[in-house]
Amino acid sequence: MQTSIAAHHSSVSEKDDRALASMFGAYTITATLWLLFATAIGVLLAYKFGAPDFAPGEWLTFGRLRPIHTNATFYGWASLALVGLAYYVAARSSGTRLYSVKLGWIGLVLFNVAAVAGTIALDLGYNDGNLEYREWPWPIRLIFLAALVITAWNLIGTVARRNTEDIYLSNWYTIGGVLWTCIIALVAILPWYQYGLGQVSVSGYYMHNAVGMWFTPLVLGIFYYALPKLLSRPIYSYALGVFAFWTNLVFYPIIGAHHFLFSPLPWWLQTTAIVFSVAMLVPVWGGSANFLLTMRGRLRDLVQSYPLMFIFVGVIGYLVGSTQGTFEAFRSLQEVWHMTNFTVGHSHLTMYGFVTFAIWGGVYALLPLATGKAPGALGLSLHFWMAVVGSFIYVISLSIGGTIQGLDWIHGAPFIQSVVDIQPFWVWRGVGGLLMFLSHIVFAWNVWRMSFGPSTTAPLASAHADEAVA
Ligand code: HEM
Ligand code: HEM
Repeated sequence: MQTSIAAHHSSVSEKDDRALASMFGAYTITATLWLLFATAIGVLLAYKFGAPDFAPGEWLTFGRLRPIHTNATFYGWASLALVGLAYYVAARSSGTRLYSVKLGWIGLVLFNVAAVAGTIALDLGYNDGNLEYREWPWPIRLIFLAALVITAWNLIGTVARRNTEDIYLSNWYTIGGVLWTCIIALVAILPWYQYGLGQVSVSGYYMHNAVGMWFTPLVLGIFYYALPKLLSRPIYSYALGVFAFWTNLVFYPIIGAHHFLFSPLPWWLQTTAIVFSVAMLVPVWGGSANFLLTMRGRLRDLVQSYPLMFIFVGVIGYLVGSTQGTFEAFRSLQEVWHMTNFTVGHSHLTMYGFVTFAIWGGVYALLPLATGKAPGALGLSLHFWMAVVGSFIYVISLSIGGTIQGLDWIHGAPFIQSVVDIQPFWVWRGVGGLLMFLSHIVFAWNVWRMSFGPSTTAPLASAHADEAVA
């Protein structure tokens, strides 16, 4: 059984490495532009809660901007950044070159075309209604699906030509993620699922699996590669990683109905979703324990390395956010939290505290290896601390505010009372959100340094030293 990222490089030339580095860079740069755009919209949305009459134009209404924010963070920012990282990890851990550089670039163009077209469509008011995270009109989602299929093909092709005997754990997660998501995205487009209760069920299936079978496995794939590399030690347990992979696969797809508890969906389906939401503790705790045990005894390295600190926050975000999700799925707690801002807090604890921090850790750990250019210490610390403090304020304020909102509703207070009660927490969310946004500007500067700044080391393109783990 393979326990380390040890690869042979006989078949990889410098030209291949440069091609991989520029593609990884291009995915990261476009993703960063999407992060800036999407979260500028996020800040505007946050301020609209305090000043609803601010920016009232038809194109700037809450109803149009909200799905622009969610889709742009999901498909512009997180998806593009994760695919760029996945290509790098797949090629490096397999000790081979990319299956097709051309397909990689075509995928990049298609992902971006879909995100631009989707954004414009939503702002013009063309919105696929109540289908959360798939509000883009379906022809645009087809373009996204095409990009996904190309990416899946290219990643599988890369891993298939590996110079190692085993498939490294990261690639299990990555390939699992791209294949599952092709299925999920296809099911979400099929016309006969787009009405009635079937649509509700498919909505739960889609939106939960978008986070659970797309972002989560891709991020875990990065953890399994970047952590051993940053710490120069193998992952604590390869077997535990495989176990978490299969349990994730068995439990995750069935829990989507927990988004629609107390809805007309069959009661047994809701109960099944709750039971499997509890079962999710197995892969979540198993995976988190694996990462934390890999870091054990290395506190000194942790505090001296920002890439590791970003990853550490990501692991804690995964553990805490997902465990919180299990509790949210209980009927007794859903009674309080459903439809409240508590859920928005959970979304950002997971999509930001887990996914976004993990991407940053991966980019800071791996992009300098590809380009030989590193960000400055000040840029790293500013980014880290503003993002940590900002997101902490964001999540804590909405968790408290959302609970008060839910209790008001349970006690039958007039609706406007719940608005008055949560108002100060919305202001705090705006403060946290602004800090988060400022940290993204610093991140963009750091990406610039890692892509076009002065060289700090020889790009590992020639040395391949980035493979020597364990
Ligand atoms: C694995 C354990 C998890 C469980 C059991 C869980 C459970 C839940 C539940 C019950 C809700 C619905 C809340 C409501 O409507 O009142 C929810 C919402 C949500 N979760 Fe999780 N969660 C988990 C992990 C995650 C992860 C890892 C992510 C992100 C990568 C995530 C992202 C979200 C998002 C974005 C929503 C909001 C969906 C919406 O717009 O309604 N969750 N989660
Ligand atoms: C500056 C940073 C950010 C700010 C200020 C911000 C702000 C907001 C606001 C105001 C909403 C609407 C909440 C509502 O309808 O009540 C929202 C929703 C959402 N945002 Fe963000 N956001 C930020 C970053 C992100 C990032 C980076 C991601 C994902 C990677 C993300 C994912 C989401 C999701 C999934 C929702 C829907 C939440 C739900 O329905 O539960 N956000 N955001």
